[in-house]
Amino acid sequence: MSTISIESVTKRFPNGFEALKGISTEIAAGSFTVILGPSGAGKSTLLRLLNGLEIPSGGSIRIAGEALDKGNLRKLRSSVAMVFQQFNLVDRLSVVTNVLTGRLAHRSWVGSVFYLFRTEDMDIAQQALARVGLTDKAWSRADKLSGGQQQRVGIARALAQRPKVILADEPVASLDPVSSEEIMGLLREIRDRDGITVVVNLHQVDLAKRFADRIIGMNSGRVVFDGPPAELSPQALRTIYQREGMEHDNHLDLALAYA
Ligand SMILES: Nc1ncnc2c1ncn2[C@@H]1O[C@H](COP(=O)(O)OP(=O)(O)O)[C@@H](O)[C@H]1O
Ligand SMILES: [Mg+2]
Repeated sequence: MSTISIESVTKRFPNGFEALKGISTEIAAGSFTVILGPSGAGKSTLLRLLNGLEIPSGGSIRIAGEALDKGNLRKLRSSVAMVFQQFNLVDRLSVVTNVLTGRLAHRSWVGSVFYLFRTEDMDIAQQALARVGLTDKAWSRADKLSGGQQQRVGIARALAQRPKVILADEPVASLDPVSSEEIMGLLREIRDRDGITVVVNLHQVDLAKRFADRIIGMNSGRVVFDGPPAELSPQALRTIYQREGMEHDNHLDLALAYA
């Protein structure tokens, strides 16, 4: 099972700033977890650690029982897919080629460099596009699509990787409300149908409440709330969104409006 174990993880950047101050938690295989918190809480740093894009300063991370360290980074990266706020597509390439890059984690260096994809990879990519409802856009240039469609390509690319875990960092922050719903619904459906563990960073309380099984609230590099959406009380939201030295905080007002 692809349970994620995070034990006493800290992250101090070269400039001395400690973005994570000791995070310990387990994320169950097949769960849909939202990490909620204001800007600067450490959400992106935590996801980047889970994907091996950053190395912890202290503590350890295990995915499916295997420690995330230099020795097995490549192997673990192939089982963990990432979805980004800005989609991170190659604009001038076709939609299906973008999805095919999801297969690169499984291919040799030489194959990757020369973009030598196999027929099998093309089948997987087309299946992934069908899952996100974009079969008819396969040969469009990526930058011709709307934001919501581009994010669906981002999700298809993640699916093509055949991952055990999908990490999504603010996947709807650049989208309108209708597309945001669609994308969250799609991620949820992927968890429900494929049993893929999904971890989504969000700052929107309403979406977190509606889609998550579990909400991990972060503030200033610490976990300050952990529970199901039903337990996310106004008091819990204050704890998540409080900012030092701030009497009045728009972020908090917004959060409480959804409580
Ligand atoms: N490479 C870095 N060097 C120094 N500080 C960083 C670096 N990356 C992020 N930070 C700081 O760490 C804190 C947490 O950042 P981040 O994880 O991006 O938060 P969030 O995603 O919750 O907005 C912020 O104060 C940010 O400025
Ligand atoms: Mg972030």
